[in-house]
Amino acid sequence: MITIVLLGYGNVGQHLYNVMEAAKDVDVVQVYNRTKHKTLKTPQTQDLKALVSADVYIIAIPDDAIGEFSESLPFKNRLVVHTSGGAHMDVLSSNNLRGIFYPLQTFSKITKVDFSTIPICVEAENEADLQLLKKLGDCISEKVVEISSSAREKLHVAAVFVNNFTNHLYHIAETITAENKLDFNLLKPLITETARKIETLSPAQAQTGPAKRNDKKTIEKHLKLLENSKYRDLYEHLTESIENSGE
Ligand SMILES: NC(=O)c1ccc[n+]([C@@H]2O[C@H](COP(=O)([O-])OP(=O)(O)OC[C@H]3O[C@@H](n4cnc5c(N)ncnc54)[C@H](OP(=O)(O)O)[C@@H]3O)[C@@H](O)[C@H]2O)c1
Repeated sequence: MITIVLLGYGNVGQHLYNVMEAAKDVDVVQVYNRTKHKTLKTPQTQDLKALVSADVYIIAIPDDAIGEFSESLPFKNRLVVHTSGGAHMDVLSSNNLRGIFYPLQTFSKITKVDFSTIPICVEAENEADLQLLKKLGDCISEKVVEISSSAREKLHVAAVFVNNFTNHLYHIAETITAENKLDFNLLKPLITETARKIETLSPAQAQTGPAKRNDKKTIEKHLKLLENSKYRDLYEHLTESIENSGE
């Protein structure tokens, strides 16, 4: 049995709690969070001095707070990990043994996720802790990978492109459809198919559209339609990027 203290009960903390509670070889023995959660069945605390002993302490709080928070933990030489894609392992205090347990997925409290398909990226300062984190990952996911902090930081850049930027483009499309009294739902099958296609094709093979076809006439027309739009520059940059990428 791997015992866990979860430090932070936000988007990631709550999803990790649910999946680890359900895993037969993992026991979440305590949850620390600044704000009390009435529905939580596991013992919780708002006091760092009341933290109990565990095999792994998982910090799931915003990146810019991890360093100071880890420094404030009132014990030494225990395994403390964070769940960030973008933060180096070194942001954790050296008072404890450091590690990473990064689930590569987007989490919101209200949406369900299937953890078995989520890659868990692990890293640790020593071999025994690495093996423990791999074992913990195996309890909740079918894909556990060892990745160094510098590689994970680059992976996170790629993740921002496929997730955050893509979602922002959905937002732009929603704005354009709303401004023109069109139904955004009309685009949803296209969104689904675009994601589905890369299961079998590379992104370069899957690319279609005016930039890929070098269809200057359509591109000019779109730029004219976007003449007074704040998204015109972005359209132009993305078009150039497709044209120059050899897709
Ligand atoms: N969300 C994602 O899609 C995602 C995906 C992969 C990895 N991650 C990583 O997971 C970590 C947590 O992200 P999240 O989205 O779960 O964040 P979040 O939902 O904003 O969760 C914030 C949690 O951290 C606590 N908190 C905030 N500032 C704190 C501080 N200064 N000291 C102590 N606790 C503090 C909050 O407590 P209160 O409730 O009391 O405010 C809350 O429990 C981050 O490192 C993030 O990079 C996120």
